Amino acid sequence: MQFPAYRARRLRRNANLRRMVRETHLRVDDLIYPMFSAFGENIKSEISSMPGIYQQSIEHIVAEAKDVHQLGIPAVILFGIPETKDPVGQDAYCDHGIIQRTIRAIKEEVPELTVITDVCMCEYTDHGHCGVIKDGDVDNDETLKLLAAEALSHARAGADIVAPSDMMDGRVMAIREILDANGFEHIPVMSYAVKYASAYYGPFREAAESTPEFGDRRSYQMDPANRSEAFREAQLDVDEDADFLMVKPALAYLDIIRDLKDSFDLPLVAYNVSGEYSMIKAAAAKDWIDGDRVMMETLLGMKRAGADLIITYHAKEAARLLNNE
Ligand code: PBG
Ligand code: ZN
Repeated sequence: MQFPAYRARRLRRNANLRRMVRETHLRVDDLIYPMFSAFGENIKSEISSMPGIYQQSIEHIVAEAKDVHQLGIPAVILFGIPETKDPVGQDAYCDHGIIQRTIRAIKEEVPELTVITDVCMCEYTDHGHCGVIKDGDVDNDETLKLLAAEALSHARAGADIVAPSDMMDGRVMAIREILDANGFEHIPVMSYAVKYASAYYGPFREAAESTPEFGDRRSYQMDPANRSEAFREAQLDVDEDADFLMVKPALAYLDIIRDLKDSFDLPLVAYNVSGEYSMIKAAAAKDWIDGDRVMMETLLGMKRAGADLIITYHAKEAARLLNNE
């Protein structure tokens, strides 16, 4: 293979040829849409840093879930903004908590839509950390009990998949055990296995009202500098029988996505996080970039890196474009 006998441009000459040799495909089936369910009624309030994304009360969540389903997107992931927060995040594992009620409402109206729930404490604790605090830090083993109770109560309400995002050690095992002991052995655990302590979560914390009151999350989320540790974290979750692995954020961590794809055979999820969405929206609003094209290129890049599924605030827009192709 050498110029001039070989010419790489031959296979790029027209759209059909390019289509025939295309190696990576983004499909509507790959998308998961995040939604923020807020306690109350008649609430639909746009998150200032995330145009098109809203905190919504249940009736609006259900209406949007119908749209999502009609677009062909297979799944949503739910985050809750409860009526009240307290030191141990009781709304998280309460039968009539915000997420439990949201799951039931969606399942009633759009039963075919797969409902994934984010399992964490930070949306429900008054201090905003992902677990219970002891001596100024999150107590791992006490938090496991609450996470297990939260996952079980989501399953009881009808969740199809539970997705722990807290980064406590042993959470996948704790959740697997309580689900199995209660007849939910068919409910998969989608583990946020490799989750970095990232500034890209900024807009989400406005959306979920979950900014820590003191300190940061570096004693439980991973150091962005670390790669070997990502293998260890993923291996731990595989050993605890996780059903999906996730890398989060995605854009600055495409190498980690590729690493995990090459080393583990579980379905791999990339979380295209809030700050990644906000950057594209902000630049597009200034006409500095073509927002749609940059969005599709970014999502395709995540798939090319090795993601099987992508959690993304762009899911509806991307699905519309894909459906019109
Ligand atoms: C909760 C959680 C966070 C995100 C998903 N689940 C925030 C955090 O850990 O601070 C971030 C998602 C995003 O930025 O879009 N633990
Ligand atoms: Zn959290």
